[in-house]
Amino acid sequence: MSKLNSTWQCPSNIAIVKYWGKKGFQLPSNPSVSFTLSQCNTTTTVKAYEHPGRRKPESQVYKEGEFHEAFTQRVTTYLEELAATIRWLKDFDFEIETSNNFPHGAGIASSASAFGALALCLTTMEWELNPPSSMNEDLFFRRASSLARIGSGSAARSVYGGWTVWGKTSALPESSDKYAIKLADYQIHDVFKKLQDTIIVVSDHTKNVSSSAGHALMYGHAYAPRRFVRAAENTRSLIEILTLGDWPAFARLCESEALDLHALMMTSNPPFLLLKPETIFWIEKIKEATVHHHLPITYTLDAGPNIHLIYPEAETTNVRKWLEEHKKYTVSTQFIYDHLGTGPQKIL
Ligand code: DP6
Repeated sequence: MSKLNSTWQCPSNIAIVKYWGKKGFQLPSNPSVSFTLSQCNTTTTVKAYEHPGRRKPESQVYKEGEFHEAFTQRVTTYLEELAATIRWLKDFDFEIETSNNFPHGAGIASSASAFGALALCLTTMEWELNPPSSMNEDLFFRRASSLARIGSGSAARSVYGGWTVWGKTSALPESSDKYAIKLADYQIHDVFKKLQDTIIVVSDHTKNVSSSAGHALMYGHAYAPRRFVRAAENTRSLIEILTLGDWPAFARLCESEALDLHALMMTSNPPFLLLKPETIFWIEKIKEATVHHHLPITYTLDAGPNIHLIYPEAETTNVRKWLEEHKKYTVSTQFIYDHLGTGPQKIL
């Protein structure tokens, strides 16, 4: 009877060009571009016990040491979906221990880091059971990315450090809807290599629409066809901007993508308004700081009210001073300081 064991730590990521809308089986309606964070991580240990003759995999998930019913159900469904094509999974029971080092509801995609870590563990086990003919690192992460995608689309991008692209784009012949790819070092100008992301937490309440429900609202959405074209154009533009180091163009694209995402939610059926008054307050202050004080800062939003303030590393001192000065006008006091990171780490 085999017993397999693997532990990975995987960071979350923040999308600049957003994935919003699916097609087929967990494929994106448009390509997306993100950078992987450094400080906001999920650590997951998977223990797999062989149980030959089972028809489907069984799993139990413990989150921060406690049995977690809802996540167990999601992971069991995930493993069943994978087992339709990955036969070895059917013969195992899985015990999964997972923990996040960042607060729930802070506007950090926990499904990205959670399914990233889980997929990395499963890929490690798969390669241990059935070693491929060539042990190629690129193939390993590509496989992990495609498994992560089935659990949560944005997780496909979290298995790499730095900048990643998920979804087919004419700008990158090797890109795919099935897995994400990492942009090479030479494709990224220095200004975008050490980007900072300070999350301004204006609300830590659970959002009133899940991303899966949000994606579903794009079916038949009046603006969907135009949105998918625009996201594809923005993907091509962003890849070029990242190489050229064009900060003003980056800031424009970043804000426009953030507002597109919320505009889509506001115009869906039913509509959702996830922005809070303090989100608008900070957006206006960011605009003021860029226009009047020439601070090179920009922002993006996830499907929630919290702001990801993005800026180059060289501006860290100025930006932190600016944040502290403005904090007193709000009831929000929480900032989470993160930055572009080097990617997941194998612990065991
Ligand atoms: C707004 O990856 O959470 O964060 O595939 O249903 O798990 P599922 O959705 P998810 O959607 C992420 C949406 C987003 C934008 C992005 O990260 O690209």
